[in-house]
Amino acid sequence: MSGIASLEIDGKKYDFPLTVGTENEVAIDINTLRSVTNGVTTLDPGYKNTGACESAITFLDGEKGILRYRGYSIEELAEKADFLEVCYLLIFGELPSRDELQKFHNDIREQSIVAEDMKKILDGFPQAAHPMGVLSSLTSALIAFNPSSVNVDSEEDMYRAIVRILGKFPVLTAWTYRKRAGLPLDYGDDTLNYVENFLKMMFKKPHSDYKRNEVVSNAMDKLLILHADHEQNCSTSTVRMVGSSHAGLFVSISAGISALWGPLHGGANQAVIEMLEAIKADGGDTKKYMAKAKDKNDPFRLMGFGHRVYKNFDPRAKIIKKAADEVLNDLGIDDPILEIAKGLEKEALEDPYFVDRKLYPNVDFYSGIIYRALGIPVEMFTPMFALGRLPGWIAQWREMRLRKEPIGRPRQVYIGENLRAFKDIDYR
Ligand code: CMC
Repeated sequence: MSGIASLEIDGKKYDFPLTVGTENEVAIDINTLRSVTNGVTTLDPGYKNTGACESAITFLDGEKGILRYRGYSIEELAEKADFLEVCYLLIFGELPSRDELQKFHNDIREQSIVAEDMKKILDGFPQAAHPMGVLSSLTSALIAFNPSSVNVDSEEDMYRAIVRILGKFPVLTAWTYRKRAGLPLDYGDDTLNYVENFLKMMFKKPHSDYKRNEVVSNAMDKLLILHADHEQNCSTSTVRMVGSSHAGLFVSISAGISALWGPLHGGANQAVIEMLEAIKADGGDTKKYMAKAKDKNDPFRLMGFGHRVYKNFDPRAKIIKKAADEVLNDLGIDDPILEIAKGLEKEALEDPYFVDRKLYPNVDFYSGIIYRALGIPVEMFTPMFALGRLPGWIAQWREMRLRKEPIGRPRQVYIGENLRAFKDIDYR
């Protein structure tokens, strides 16, 4: 490869250097495009072809179905690591030693107290409010109780902000659920690991002791690992974009939560279960819904299918499908919607519409079935995704700030009115 890309505009030739990543991904570096061409920009709605940054955190090959965090395969991490180790790996770049992990966990524990006044804010929300809206607001409100801004030139400051959010976010997530469920707010238990502690904060009943269930905590750990990062997706790009204005970590993450909420992104896990429930209630006729998904005049989409980047299979979906079978088996649950999901998957994988468009089950297709089996209500599925994605957002925000990236500010191609004279109100 010459290392140069040439572009010809109106007979004039411009050369741009190619950038090659460590996995041989090639990008045309158009940093100088506007200045050398006198104002020409690129147009790429949805950023389908645009690399917004260089990043050393997550590698994803959509054609081959590869996902790696800091060079480690998702399959190996899901099997051998726990969520907190993966948090450390994503944020700091290496797997922690025993001592580093211990210190990390202790520091997070110390920061897991949430100001009592935050409860008043939570109290102000209607009980039926969607947990993602509540969680985004509470995360943003944290800044008012932890006002010191992060000095990104100080490793210590950065570290403190990171362990703070890792400590407080599970508490806020659990409180959001408990408020909705009408349960008293609860703090966790310092003696438990990160994920078990979260489960206890969620499910401890006021009148009985919390009983730890190994199958449940292992499944939850695995789900969180599988969701922990996914390079420049919608919510992560949002976190980087907000952080690029030098807004703090908490508000950047709050913006990421809002972006994740949508049904085309993290909200798909809730939408999948609602769709499967609707199919069941409608007599279980999967063919009818396949036809709807293919009908261009029908807005219905097969939720949990398709992905912007994966055009072969989503490696996370493979792991989750197996885990769903195991969890339901271990817990002795017979969930009829698992059968509907499997039926839909089989039909879609054989249907030319889905095959031609390379639409495969994504991470959200089976995750809801596990969440349901673990006793997590459907409106809490997307907050679970947020808890899992938290280390990814933190790692990407930290990388963006350490690399001193410029403020995010895309260009546009204006297609509105040309200059026109103001019309007095009597003549409009
Ligand atoms: N059902 C039916 N048709 C679909 C679907 C689907 N789920 N997904 C894509 N298509 C069709 C789409 O209509 C289009 O057809 P045509 O070329 O004839 O116009 C073609 O496939 C390409 O779709 P696209 O919308 O241009 O693809 P995209 O890369 O912009 O969108 C997606 C990716 C994930 C938003 C989309 O596949 C989708 O809406 N899926 C359902 C929602 C979902 O499961 N989201 C979770 C994504 S994974 C977790 C996460 O990122 O949070």
